[in-house]
Amino acid sequence: MSGSPSPIIRRAEPEDAAIILRWRLEPSTSHFQPLRPRTVDELRTRLQQRRSEPLDTTLDSEVQWTILDNGIPAGWVRLEVTSREHRVGSVGYTVATAHRGRGLATAALHEVARLALDPHGLDLWRLEANVASANLASRRVLAKAGFVHEGHARGLVVIAGARVDHERYALLRSDLFSHD
Ligand SMILES: CC(C)(COP(=O)(O)OP(=O)(O)OC[C@H]1O[C@@H](n2cnc3c(N)ncnc32)[C@H](O)[C@@H]1OP(=O)(O)O)[C@@H](O)C(=O)NCCC(=O)NCCS
Repeated sequence: MSGSPSPIIRRAEPEDAAIILRWRLEPSTSHFQPLRPRTVDELRTRLQQRRSEPLDTTLDSEVQWTILDNGIPAGWVRLEVTSREHRVGSVGYTVATAHRGRGLATAALHEVARLALDPHGLDLWRLEANVASANLASRRVLAKAGFVHEGHARGLVVIAGARVDHERYALLRSDLFSHD
């Protein structure tokens, strides 16, 4: 048997749609993430569109990965290219309750950041994340993955009918790689 470590992420596949939707609906997730409601078919179709393509800086405006816990799907990371012109993207992520507290989100985010900011990957220059101020676990994940706290945004997002303060974080290519 080879001793190579099992991968922490892979591109999300149409077959992951049902489990991703289940994770999105977990109360501890929806509490902090006001995600747009989607049907399984809708998500499956989106995941089908670019399932086996290599990352493409001109085609990919949204990429989703499945987080793996020793090969078992345990969460997801979604990246949206918010400005191709300025090479800026934004990330969101969830780890299913049963798999939390084992470093999965941190490792997955680190891997996604490398793919996003690498000139041979998505070729972005800046990766952003906004997190509810009270979401201490997620703030810790961002800090561990090297994201820099850039500010406090009052009432940025509506969650369950109330405006919720958020913290803004970002990771630059130059934070991650020694050359630009
Ligand atoms: C946030 C989330 C992704 C973290 O996933 P995870 O795989 O458990 O994260 P990691 O194990 O990599 O790191 C979690 C860190 O938060 C810490 N933590 C957990 N709960 C905490 C709390 N209530 N207060 C402070 N720190 C906390 C852990 O101790 C750990 O830090 P450490 O390694 O220094 O001990 C997961 O809890 C989740 O999916 N939450 C719901 C959805 C969500 O909030 N998504 C992010 C939206 S921006």
